[in-house]
Amino acid sequence: MIRNLASKHFSTRAVHAGERQRPDGFVPMSTPIYSSSTFIYDHLAEIDAISAGERTGFTYSRHANPTNAALEEAVASLESAPAGSVAVSLASGMSAILLALLAAGVEHGSKIAASQDLYGVTTKFLLEVAARWGAEIQFVDVFSIAGRDEMWKFKPNALIVESLTNPLLRVADFPALMGEARAHKTRVIVDNTFATPLLFQPLKHGADFVVHSATKYFGGHGDLTGGVLIAREEFATETRSFSRLVGAVLGPFEAWLTLRGLKTLPLRFARHCENAQALAEFLSSHPRIEQVFYPGLPSHVDHVLAGKLLGGPNAGGVLSAKIRGAGREEVFRFVDSLELFLKATSLGDVQSLVLYPAISSHRDLSPKQRERLGITDNLVRLSAGIEHVDDLKADLEQALAKL
Ligand SMILES: Cc1ncc(COP(=O)(O)O)c(C=O)c1O
Repeated sequence: MIRNLASKHFSTRAVHAGERQRPDGFVPMSTPIYSSSTFIYDHLAEIDAISAGERTGFTYSRHANPTNAALEEAVASLESAPAGSVAVSLASGMSAILLALLAAGVEHGSKIAASQDLYGVTTKFLLEVAARWGAEIQFVDVFSIAGRDEMWKFKPNALIVESLTNPLLRVADFPALMGEARAHKTRVIVDNTFATPLLFQPLKHGADFVVHSATKYFGGHGDLTGGVLIAREEFATETRSFSRLVGAVLGPFEAWLTLRGLKTLPLRFARHCENAQALAEFLSSHPRIEQVFYPGLPSHVDHVLAGKLLGGPNAGGVLSAKIRGAGREEVFRFVDSLELFLKATSLGDVQSLVLYPAISSHRDLSPKQRERLGITDNLVRLSAGIEHVDDLKADLEQALAKL
């Protein structure tokens, strides 16, 4: 508290006037953007008590920030995180993956089992960063019993898997997978970005960590980059501590945008799913389409499992399709002909988006690796937006007609 500020010099008032006002009995309905790197207290003893964990409060935004804390509480609630869990908001989905691996105890000599169906950059991260730490990585088929048997022989310390995979929308038998992981004392990290907690809540199934790219459905409007990591109580202290040490924290403005995005997530996501289901059905009967990948279709390899495990009437907002007889040239022509589906390297936005995995999300894999995973050169991925579905169908129809 600066006494008699009015008597101070102009440059002193320029720095201090108007600042650090105390709320006067009102509560802002929407959590403000606390764009402040530090928080001030009357007595040093208060900062000391907060730093010692003896009282709650905020001191430094790399450690905790009130806007981020509101977002973290909201995400923990939506993921039904048990008491004692911690949620931390991070600069991106990739930094949430980095932190999950660190907090899971991955170090020199650790063994990481990774689903072979992962976002291509996660695969690259494991091969180029985690491998450099001295961790051994094995890519596994978590969707078959034989693949899981093979994985357990490897005796992994940690397993990383997506609940709804990118781009083929596979769904693992989580009850079986988690039971086996528990028996083998393997720490499980689930990337829940595509499913969102509306369809799947990994902690309820026994996951140790849940990762989100908030850039996608949480934000929902294509205007932020962010990530959230939720860790079970056993890993809460390390997660919080490593988050402070690594420092890849989400800025308060992005935290505020994400918190705002969450408020309409159920409404947006219902429409994304409804549109994706309708587009999947439309494309399935189109003569120019060879195969559609969407778990809401009976033709999808995990349709029955998705029906049991995913909590919605539909199966997410993303679908992929192979264009009959198309090579790169035809795919480029198709994608360039689309008007409403924007060519964007993302998903989960209110706008419909189209992505060509071979040159974007899975660009870093060799053609052979892509072929083995079923990510062929005629595969495109669509993220259904919230536009009117008839307009989206018409857009696909006119672009397919150009082939
Ligand atoms: C499933 C999945 N996980 C993680 C990420 C990484 O998220 P970010 O781009 O926010 O780092 C992505 C990005 O596309 C993704 O699709």
